[in-house]
Amino acid sequence: MKKLLITGCNGQLGRALNRVYEGEQVHIINTDVPELDITDLDAVMHIVREHKPHVIMNCGAMTAVDLCESEYEKAFRINAIGPRNLSIAARETGAKLFQISTDYVFSGNADHPYVETDVVDPQSVYGSTKLAGEQFVRDFADRYFIIRTAWLYGEGKNFAATMLRLAESNDTVRVVSDQFGTPTSALELAKMIHVLEPTENYGIFHGTCEGRCSWADFAAEIFRQAGKRTKVEYITTAEYPTPAKRPAYSVLENRMLHLTTDFRLQQWQDALSVYLKEIL
Ligand SMILES: NC(=O)c1ccc[n+]([C@@H]2O[C@H](COP(=O)([O-])OP(=O)(O)OC[C@H]3O[C@@H](n4cnc5c(N)ncnc54)[C@H](OP(=O)(O)O)[C@@H]3O)[C@@H](O)[C@H]2O)c1
Repeated sequence: MKKLLITGCNGQLGRALNRVYEGEQVHIINTDVPELDITDLDAVMHIVREHKPHVIMNCGAMTAVDLCESEYEKAFRINAIGPRNLSIAARETGAKLFQISTDYVFSGNADHPYVETDVVDPQSVYGSTKLAGEQFVRDFADRYFIIRTAWLYGEGKNFAATMLRLAESNDTVRVVSDQFGTPTSALELAKMIHVLEPTENYGIFHGTCEGRCSWADFAAEIFRQAGKRTKVEYITTAEYPTPAKRPAYSVLENRMLHLTTDFRLQQWQDALSVYLKEIL
C-alpha cells in the first residue's frame, strides 16, 4: 500500500490533505511536532528509514509572519533546515517530496501575476527563510514538487476565521485595501497536491485559487457570503503598520499547472463559499 508521511499534520494544509485522501487505499503517517520535529535531522532520518514512505508532504512551517521577524533563528530552522532534512531523507530512500512555499518569496512590486520562473526577492524573514527552504530542496532532493501558495485558509487560524470572529462584536472592521493576492482554500490546494502526487511532473508550481482581490475585498466577500452586516472600512497599508513587510502585489499565475495538467483550482469566491458552508 502507498505510504504518505505528512509533517505538520495539525495545520490547515495537513488537515485538508487528510480529508482529500480519506477513503483511499493509502497509509498516512501523520506527524506534528510531538511525533516529528522536522528541524531534527536524526529524528527525520529515523522516521523516514523506519517507515520508508513513498511520498513525504511537508506541511510543517512557521507561518506567523510577524513573529518570524523577531525570531529569525527559529524561523530558519523550521522553514529552511526542516525541508533540508526532509530532502536528505527523501533522497536516501527515493521518496517524492512535496514542499509548500509562498508568495512572500517575491518582492511584491510587480504589476502582473508572478509565474514560477520570475525572479525571487523576499522582503521579510518569513519570505527569505521559505526561499532558503526551496533552495535546500532543490539542492538535496531529487524528486520534488515545490508548490508556492498564498492567503491560505482552512481548518485553523486564518484571515477568514478572524473576520468572522470580528463580525460578532464589530459593526465595522478596518482592512487593508492596497495589497492584492488570491485567497486560497487549503482544500483546493490539497486537491492539487493529490493530482500531482502520483506523477513525475516535478518542479516548482504556483498553486492558488483563480482570480484576485485585496484583503478588504476578501473581507467584504466573507461578510456578504456569510450574511453579516459588518462593514469594511478600506484603509491603506500605511494605516496598518506590521513588523513584517507584506508584498503589495502577490498574485500568482498557476502557469506550470495549466501547461502541464488539466487540473484547475476554483475561483476564490467559489472556494470561499464551499468553506463557509462547512463552517457556518
Ligand atoms: N497560511 C498561509 O496563508 C500560507 C500562505 C502561503 C504559504 N503557506 C505555506 O503553506 C504551508 C501550510 O501552511 P498552513 O497554513 O497549513 O500552516 P499552519 O496552519 O501554520 O500549520 C503549520 C503546522 O506546522 C507545525 N510545525 C511548526 N514547527 C514544526 C516543526 N519544527 N516540525 C513539524 N511541524 C511543525 C505547526 O505546529 P504549531 O502550530 O505547534 O507551531 C502547525 O501544526 C506552509 O509551508 C506555509 O509556509 C501558508
